[in-house]
Amino acid sequence: MVFSSTKCRWASVFLLLVVCSASAVVEDGSLVNGDFESPPSGGFSSDAGISDGPAVIPGWKTNGTVELVESGQKQGGMILIVPQGAHAVRLGNDAEISQEVKVEKGSLYSVTFSAARTCAQLESLNVSVPPASQTIDLQTLYSVQGWDSYAWAFQAEEEDARVVFRNPGMEDDPTCGPIIDDIAIKKLFVPEKPKDNAVVNGDFEEGPWMFRNESLGVLLPTNLDEDTSSLPGWNVESNRAVRYIDSYHFSVPGGKRAIELLSGKEGIISQMVQTKPNKPYRLTFSLGHASDACKQPLAVMAFAGDQAQNIHYTPDSNSTFQTANLNFTAKAERTRVAFYSVYYNTRTDDMSSLCGPVVDDVRVEQSASVRIRVGGLGLLLILLLVVVLL
Ligand SMILES: *[C@@H]1O[C@H](CO)[C@@H](O)[C@H](O)[C@H]1NC(C)=O
Ligand SMILES: *[C@@H]1O[C@H](CO)[C@@H](O)[C@H](O)[C@H]1NC(C)=O
Ligand SMILES: *[C@@H]1O[C@H](CO)[C@@H](O)[C@H](O)[C@H]1NC(C)=O
Ligand SMILES: *[C@@H]1O[C@H](CO)[C@@H](O)[C@H](O)[C@H]1NC(C)=O
Ligand SMILES: *[C@@H]1O[C@H](CO)[C@@H](O)[C@H](O)[C@H]1NC(C)=O
Repeated sequence: MVFSSTKCRWASVFLLLVVCSASAVVEDGSLVNGDFESPPSGGFSSDAGISDGPAVIPGWKTNGTVELVESGQKQGGMILIVPQGAHAVRLGNDAEISQEVKVEKGSLYSVTFSAARTCAQLESLNVSVPPASQTIDLQTLYSVQGWDSYAWAFQAEEEDARVVFRNPGMEDDPTCGPIIDDIAIKKLFVPEKPKDNAVVNGDFEEGPWMFRNESLGVLLPTNLDEDTSSLPGWNVESNRAVRYIDSYHFSVPGGKRAIELLSGKEGIISQMVQTKPNKPYRLTFSLGHASDACKQPLAVMAFAGDQAQNIHYTPDSNSTFQTANLNFTAKAERTRVAFYSVYYNTRTDDMSSLCGPVVDDVRVEQSASVRIRVGGLGLLLILLLVVVLL
């Protein structure tokens, strides 16, 4: 009697565990076998040939020509690029990989992944969590390593999400196609607007997943929808990406994260901030270098409402950044704040990786000092009036 009831309790505890683990939402970090280092059941095939059947990749569903590639593997004299570790996957024409994850319905998520192109110049990657999708252009190489990390965000419409990577390309050589590695996910929160600052996430601390040991930062491609941005609050308005950088591998003015602007005016970040019409405001921000051997000069074009200012970074051996500001009068309830790099900078050590000025700690505050000055002006007018009347 006692024995069987104990068994029952154990069984129900077990059931509870099963139920709990089945509904557990995905944790921040790598997806299952997101680095493609788990060996397939038959082991990694060490020869460079392409298997006829679809590769069975632990954790992933595939469709079309999906190949596990190994670092050092050659194709027609060219060594294939594997971003991290020893393995990655390559997607042939119209091929895809996907993984199902449990997410929190209604929440915002960002997917980080590394990608390299192989033969063609015009390779791209369609990242989706149906019905949301974005095609990421891999044509521009931002770093000389030949690969980059990217982030893309989506709003979870269902608890069951399928993260899909598809090569929409149709190349003559079916073995061409992008290489993907290091796929991770992160649930984002939208930071509250601070009381004394109209900018949301002005310190850029909330953003996509970054692997601690990946040194290239994460590119944020075009994103015009501020509600689904990997960088909550901000849009990437341009057709080129900006780089999200961390303090482990770059110089960052404040906290652990900042933005490095790339590609001149082809890389623009912006935010619509809440303002009161006809009130004076001041935009302040940190402007610096990332300690990535970026060729000077570094400068940004900063916009706030109808004001625009070109601000050059002045190198100072004691600091990696300076504080810059721009005064403006709000014309409406929402004012656009935006930044782009004035120059098209590259690194001095490899002459080709894109780099640029770092922006951080963006603040928009109603300016009290200007109000005092207006008060002084009023006093002056009254005095003048008195003088005229006399
Ligand atoms: C594989 O992709 C093709 C089209 O590219 C599609 O018709 C087919 O249904 C897909 N198969 C699976 C199992 O998803
Ligand atoms: C990307 O893939 C999604 C889902 O597979 C599809 O709905 C969408 O049309 C594709 N986008 C492009 C630009 O091909
Ligand atoms: C990076 O860290 C992950 C674990 O966080 C590890 O599996 C991987 O091997 C590391 N990669 C390198 C190149 O150190
Ligand atoms: C750097 O710091 C040192 C001492 O802390 C000071 O003497 C020097 O003037 C500073 N240089 C600059 C450019 O601010
Ligand atoms: C903005 O106004 C403040 C206070 O009036 C002033 O100190 C600052 O220099 C102004 N900034 C610019 C860029 O003119």
